[in-house]
Amino acid sequence: MSNPRAPGAPDELPAAHAHPHRVIGTPPPAEARTMLADVDMGQARPARRWLPAGPPNARLAKKAERIAAALFILATLAGIGFIAAYVGLEVGSVDSAFRSNLALGLAMSVVFLALAVGAVIWVRYIMPDVELTEERHPMASTPEERQAFAETFEQGAEASQFKRPLLRRTLIAATLPALAAPLVLLRDLGPLPGTYLRHTVWRKGTRLLVFGPNTPIRPGDFSSPGQMITVVPDGYQDDMDALAAATSIIIKFAPGELQPPTVMNWTVDDIVCYSKICTHVGCPAALYEQTTHHILCPCHQSTFDAPRGALVTFGPAPRPLPQLPLTTDADGYLVAASDFHEPVGPSFWERG
Ligand code: FES
Repeated sequence: MSNPRAPGAPDELPAAHAHPHRVIGTPPPAEARTMLADVDMGQARPARRWLPAGPPNARLAKKAERIAAALFILATLAGIGFIAAYVGLEVGSVDSAFRSNLALGLAMSVVFLALAVGAVIWVRYIMPDVELTEERHPMASTPEERQAFAETFEQGAEASQFKRPLLRRTLIAATLPALAAPLVLLRDLGPLPGTYLRHTVWRKGTRLLVFGPNTPIRPGDFSSPGQMITVVPDGYQDDMDALAAATSIIIKFAPGELQPPTVMNWTVDDIVCYSKICTHVGCPAALYEQTTHHILCPCHQSTFDAPRGALVTFGPAPRPLPQLPLTTDADGYLVAASDFHEPVGPSFWERG
């Protein structure tokens, strides 16, 4: 079925389009117009409309306009609902996080669905159903062709009915919350870390506790060189945030095995302490090979040379494991002489 002739449409169609036929499974062919077809080099182009200025059916277009506007208003409300759900719903438990995700997902789905359906209704029932065909011609456009393009563009803009204030304003209003939503999500990047990444909870005099039994340790408690023990700072053994940065390892060496760049006066009786947090992306460097004295990170196989300042000998880690200065307290227990002198764990932008 051919479309009704739109107001302002040309009287004649090209012969090839005079009897458009339907092909099952495809939309009916629209009336075709040929843009620039009658532009010949040097010939004056007769003034004519390429596109009708208004919709083919004014009553239907009015009804469609109201429906599309209602959908855009729905998208606006859903976008506002998304922001309200993000700000207002708690996410402190699995159930509340589920409810929050459900509300956010539903709200954003309604935004996109309402926008899409509104746009489809706009195109199908308010814009004229006309195909424009641009014929091939020499690549360089003539001034007449450029002028024809400009006119066609202006007429297309007019025919799109974007001038209708109700549609235009509701569409713009509908897109604003959707555009603001990603900005709201930036809040999840969290507060600026400040100097948080540069320090751990180790302080001068903090005892080293054996991870697990949480008992202090004396240098003499090592039964033999080659042992590696995971240690945590006294007072923070249950503080997971603190332990994420402060967990360390101590290794006992035979006399003479430790070499530079290990800082010798940060060791006690050939016991050295390194951060356990891999300097690649922060996995625990939890494996120790006694025969080679290699500390291994199981995540991406970074390998650190324990007697030589935990230098990187293999893998993606960019720098050695930081060394914690050690000493003993009045009771002979191993304690930290200070915090680490450099940030532990993966590098970060401000580390320099
Ligand atoms: Fe240790 Fe990647 S986190 S090698």
